[in-house]
Amino acid sequence: MDELSIAVFASGGGTNLQSLIDSCKQGAWDGSITAVISNNSGAYALERARNENIAACHISGVKFPERERFVGEMLRTLENHKVNLIVLAGYMKLLPVEVVRKYRNRILNIHPALLPKYGGKGMYGMNVHKAVIESGDSISGATVHFVDEIFDHGVILIQRTVPVLPDDDPESLAARVLKVEHKILPAAVSMFA
Ligand code: GRF
Repeated sequence: MDELSIAVFASGGGTNLQSLIDSCKQGAWDGSITAVISNNSGAYALERARNENIAACHISGVKFPERERFVGEMLRTLENHKVNLIVLAGYMKLLPVEVVRKYRNRILNIHPALLPKYGGKGMYGMNVHKAVIESGDSISGATVHFVDEIFDHGVILIQRTVPVLPDDDPESLAARVLKVEHKILPAAVSMFA
């Protein structure tokens, strides 16, 4: 495997992105994060990229209303940075099918639950943790999986569990799961490398 050139997609605060940046700096794999792409121009993830002199790219359906220009811009950005691994780290959109096809088996996603449970459309962020608590499950966790054309559906690479405590609310469970996400996402990239 040649050196990794990783594009990270994120829509929000980017703590998963930060865990990748930190692991990369500690030499967890050969290669670097060459671009951060967000659909949200205000995403703190883009700020984290700028702080590290990583290309911070705002690519959204608002900025590129015509679909073929949107997809073209995304593919051009990935090609310009010679990307050979895409990591979705809190990215709230479905990747265009053209991107999934071109980078098949080179796209990882982190999901804050034990897929295949609590996955699929609408199952993101707090919705996931609310559903887990309402179900009465005593364990939850996080999953890193390969991405295909269906939300949260591809082959699973790593899962790690956390307990659901009787007095948990969605926020306390989310915080416990997030800590595990920050561990298994860099581990999955190292495995891929
Ligand atoms: C994480 O819980 C991730 O699993 C979910 O969105 C959140 C992203 O958090 N998809 P951050 O932006 O990495 O802090």
